[in-house]
Amino acid sequence: MKRAVYPGSFDPMTLGHLDVIKRAASIFDELIVTVLNNKEKSPLFSVEERVNILETATKDLPNVKIDSFSGLLINYAASHDIHVSVRGLRAVTDFEYELQLAQTNRQLSHEQLDTVFLTTSLEYAYLSSSSVKEIAYFGGDISPCVPGFVADLIHEKFKGRA
Ligand code: PNS
Repeated sequence: MKRAVYPGSFDPMTLGHLDVIKRAASIFDELIVTVLNNKEKSPLFSVEERVNILETATKDLPNVKIDSFSGLLINYAASHDIHVSVRGLRAVTDFEYELQLAQTNRQLSHEQLDTVFLTTSLEYAYLSSSSVKEIAYFGGDISPCVPGFVADLIHEKFKGRA
């Protein structure tokens, strides 16, 4: 059985993330989407909220599981006996950071964790969680960027803040 992990901050999950999830789920037998619990960042959504969003968005994808992790990805992957990490590449600007992450993980894991890149569908290539939050903060339309229920949750967070 070929399993893979798709790690990320997912603060919040965008349609670009969901596109990568669906495509990876059709390639691998099982995909674990795992949310980084990074105590040094101050995210808009808690880890639990981000996990709930991902669970709701992927409820019709039976081979996708949602989880969270802290610490190094290589340790999470080893403890789940996973040897492939999936990441989305939107544009060449992502490449330098992603290459470094992939090489570091491969080196640190003694070649036990490799990275597979999926190029984001062109319609989502401009999307990022940060830009979605900024657009919402200033009252812009985020409906092309996230599922409707996520847009509602983001607006709820920003109510009275802008
Ligand atoms: O969605 P993001 O923020 O681009 O995802 C980045 C993520 C979570 C994949 C990356 O920061 C990560 O794996 N962090 C865990 C710590 C780790 O293993 N770092 C790699 C060695 S520097």
